[in-house]
Amino acid sequence: MNAINPQVHGIFDPATWTVTYVVYEKEGGPCAIIDSVLDYDPKSGRTRTGSADKVIAFVREKELRVEWILETHAHADHITAAPYLKQELGGRTAIGDHITTVQKVFKGIFNLEQAFTTDGRQFDHLMKDDEQFAIGNLTGRVMYVPGHTPACVAYQIGDAVFVGDTLFMPDVGTARCDFPGGDAKNLYRSIGKILSLPPETRLFMCHDYPPDSRAVKFESTVAEQRRANIHVHDGISEEQFVEMRTKRDATLEMPVLILPSVQVNIRAGEMPPKDENGVAYLKIPVNAL
Ligand SMILES: [Fe+2]
Repeated sequence: MNAINPQVHGIFDPATWTVTYVVYEKEGGPCAIIDSVLDYDPKSGRTRTGSADKVIAFVREKELRVEWILETHAHADHITAAPYLKQELGGRTAIGDHITTVQKVFKGIFNLEQAFTTDGRQFDHLMKDDEQFAIGNLTGRVMYVPGHTPACVAYQIGDAVFVGDTLFMPDVGTARCDFPGGDAKNLYRSIGKILSLPPETRLFMCHDYPPDSRAVKFESTVAEQRRANIHVHDGISEEQFVEMRTKRDATLEMPVLILPSVQVNIRAGEMPPKDENGVAYLKIPVNAL
């Protein structure tokens, strides 16, 4: 890895508790956008771009050139704004190459059209484990970190790691592992990979669900997580973690937007093909999830 460390700007979406990151070396240079949000109102089925427009405004203010529009995984709690950002700002979309596994599983669950291919071609690029990529002078590296989903990746860019849904802030803990293809044992091992990085490594969460006692925060360090993460601080064994995670996941409701989100996100954020009346429809599988 080269030694250049990025500037990181996080934009928090209070509707989905998601943080979108803009990562860049300097104003006027190239950047990457990680985990964007397309606003979606499940009551009306209407999308809006307020959250993504904040990202666009920042990119324009800093005169950044978008090289990458990255996803850490196919999110189950919000729809990605990747196609809208690409249309407005340019850049190439990418996700971890195990997305094909997720596409196969959900093509079945949603009984998607034959023409929906499960080879990941909806994305401009599929990132392999340990693959390196450039954002101008910055070097990124892909870390395959399955567990929350079988396709999760984290992006290490300089001294910063965008951890996706692995770790949350230390007082919140870790991501759930009970979606199709999730696995608590894998999540423990993936988190172990992240927490074996140098202690001063900056970690950026994909979400924050702050307790009432504090404001939203989404930056931590390896040292802080190893010392204080309520689920995986140093000394917690794999067995202890899996038992805690499994018990806890059994108590969690499905995210409100899981059904719309997943079927759009496995299409890299495109809506399904329109019906003959010109309207795109999302499906709700009854008693299947
Ligand atoms: Fe997620």
